[in-house]
Amino acid sequence: MPDPRRFPEECPVTSTGLPESLITTLPGSSYTDPEIFAQEQEHIFEAMWFCAVRSADLARSGVFRTVQVGRESILVTRARDNSVRAFFNVCRHRGAKLCTAEAGEVKRAFQCPYHAWTYDLTGKLVAAPNLTKMPDVGRTEYGLAAVATHEWLGYVWVCLAENPPPFDEVVRDVVARLGDTKSIERYGIEDLDLGRRIVYDVKANWKLIVENFMECYHCATIHPELTEVLPEFADGYAAQYYVGHGAEFGSEVKGFTVDGSEGLDRIPGVTEDQDRRYYAITVRPQVFVNLVPDHVVFHRMYPVAADRTIVECDWLFHKHVVESGKDVSRSVELFDRVNRQDFDACERCQPAMSSRLYAKGGVLVPSEHHIGAFHAFVQERLDAGRPR
Ligand code: FES
Ligand SMILES: [Fe+2]
Repeated sequence: MPDPRRFPEECPVTSTGLPESLITTLPGSSYTDPEIFAQEQEHIFEAMWFCAVRSADLARSGVFRTVQVGRESILVTRARDNSVRAFFNVCRHRGAKLCTAEAGEVKRAFQCPYHAWTYDLTGKLVAAPNLTKMPDVGRTEYGLAAVATHEWLGYVWVCLAENPPPFDEVVRDVVARLGDTKSIERYGIEDLDLGRRIVYDVKANWKLIVENFMECYHCATIHPELTEVLPEFADGYAAQYYVGHGAEFGSEVKGFTVDGSEGLDRIPGVTEDQDRRYYAITVRPQVFVNLVPDHVVFHRMYPVAADRTIVECDWLFHKHVVESGKDVSRSVELFDRVNRQDFDACERCQPAMSSRLYAKGGVLVPSEHHIGAFHAFVQERLDAGRPR
């Protein structure tokens, strides 16, 4: 277990200089320095499993999405045998970006718009001007460079590392939070349908967003609707503070909606223990999962700069809720408001990260101390990537 009280070497503040109740955050530069961000891209987002695309968004073979993973553009698609494939979105000829659209569909192949090298859905080079006159050019060797994929919870996770770590690393975060994997499996996330998707362009460092999600010290101040539904959040202890704990709905609350009114049909696998409770899980490095009895709110972050993060948020409901066209807006509105309140707070902090006053960082109060483990995780990844 990482020690949450381990401080980055760069940060001259030590625990001995602080009152017992406080531990330090990362220094301000950690949230602003493009060099540190580049190291995070290399040693975190390009080295770990990264949740890239919702599987159902690749509805047929040839449907594709392009996503930024660390410093790379990754093309994710479905081959004719229905398997998911991911490639570096880079033409093997002279390096043109193969697909510039964020999403689209091709029939059978991707054709580079520059000199028309053409790759099938498995990445193999299948055509190019004068290719038959170059019999020594290997179709696989000069095909698109593949990236490892793994489908879990209805999402395609990719890993750019040459030797990807076991996928268990991802699952471990869920177990650490919920105590087991069965608890999340009961929601059958892969069988839910998309009720709404909202994409947020947040002008803040990705770590501010993770830290915010991990604590509820701010809940009473900025989340009036959420604390109405989950009264225990007003005390400042986040659902993530205790292993296995889900915050209970208020006794008058009928559902996880913006006004506490009735929600939608309960997800069939959800147990009595899990009913009327909210569970939040941080899956490092860039996913948040929120579980309530009738829907799942699934956040994916795409960090694009030290001070900018795109967050794609999906509201997932039981299939027949979506198919029957039931009104999901009161459910969506609750977490949409929470998101906007949180992202506003993160954007409020971002400019101050470069203030001289924050050079040594800020402090975490006891209900935020578990965020120290996240800081240790970031620091360890960067330390491990540094040449010795
Ligand atoms: S760069 Fe793609 S075909 Fe030349
Ligand atoms: Fe919040």
